[in-house]
Amino acid sequence: MNTDAKIYVAGHLGMVGSAIMRRLKKGGYENIVYKSFSELDLRRQEEVEKFFMEERPEYVFLAAAKVGGIHANNTYPAEFIYDNLMVEANIINSAYKYGVKKLLFLGSSCIYPKLADQPIKEEYLMDGKLEETNEAYAVAKIAGIELCKFYRRQYGCDFISVMPTNLYGINDNFDLETSHVMPALIRKFHEAKVKGEKQVVMWGTGKPRREFLYVDDLADALLHLMLSYSGEKHVNIGSGEDIEIRGLAEIIKGVIGYSGKIENDTSKPDGTPRKLLDVTLLQETGWKHKIGLEEGIKKVYDWYLENKANEN
Ligand SMILES: NC(=O)c1ccc[n+]([C@@H]2O[C@H](COP(=O)([O-])OP(=O)(O)OC[C@H]3O[C@@H](n4cnc5c(N)ncnc54)[C@H](OP(=O)(O)O)[C@@H]3O)[C@@H](O)[C@H]2O)c1
Repeated sequence: MNTDAKIYVAGHLGMVGSAIMRRLKKGGYENIVYKSFSELDLRRQEEVEKFFMEERPEYVFLAAAKVGGIHANNTYPAEFIYDNLMVEANIINSAYKYGVKKLLFLGSSCIYPKLADQPIKEEYLMDGKLEETNEAYAVAKIAGIELCKFYRRQYGCDFISVMPTNLYGINDNFDLETSHVMPALIRKFHEAKVKGEKQVVMWGTGKPRREFLYVDDLADALLHLMLSYSGEKHVNIGSGEDIEIRGLAEIIKGVIGYSGKIENDTSKPDGTPRKLLDVTLLQETGWKHKIGLEEGIKKVYDWYLENKANEN
């Protein structure tokens, strides 16, 4: 992929898409095409085909998707399966039809079986029952991975898939109703500090272990794989390290400078005890994450203070 290659970033305004844009610009890639949701609804086949016919991108990062937390997934499963199937099928088929040289599709670690052995290896996909709360999303995302695999097998398309772990970073969602654990904790500790509250209540025991990756590290890995990896097998992307949620809360508390106590609401569920990706395959390609948890949380908190703290 030369620096003047025409690259389409689908979902460029999202947390992942915007990080890909930053990474491409930093790498000197200038010929990037993109459209916002209001300009191009990727669920519409004719419009997607027209876009590919007119623009003829050579490389595609497929980071557009309908994404949400447990509540949204549970409440709108029809939308989660339909939107994601349509977006990925339209883009992948158009990429084949209009001769895209290489395409990278994003899956997610949450589509592995609910009770997968730890750390989770690539081959565990479809090896057990899915988590019920995001089954619709998972089925659609698994279909995206299979599309890449079968377009490669039948047509020889160089389409690859990756499976990122839990991500965090700037442009994340800080809405307490729909957000993931990291932005939710940042917001809770910040608000408790501002209001002078004596304690912050965390859901569950704080004992489950989770893995986190800063979104700019993810974008770096995506570019690395776009340049160096070609294969049917999807690639896990993570730090390869996990931490107890309680430990994560302590780091966030320290970064924010909150001096109160952390209380656990043990009447709330803990979820899976551990979720960690096996990143052997990724590391064999020569990539390792660079941004540590505390450094990443500091970047997000600075961004939150500048962009979000006054909105709430
Ligand atoms: N966030 C994580 O922790 C995580 C972890 C692992 C994998 N991933 C994967 O990374 C990818 C991107 O996630 P993200 O966190 O960046 O999500 P995000 O912030 O919600 O970004 C998704 C983008 O896709 C756009 N989009 C959705 N439906 C569309 C449609 N029909 N037509 C055009 N654009 C559409 C959205 O536009 P609007 O904003 O206008 O709706 C948004 O800009 C997803 O495939 C997800 O599975 C994310």
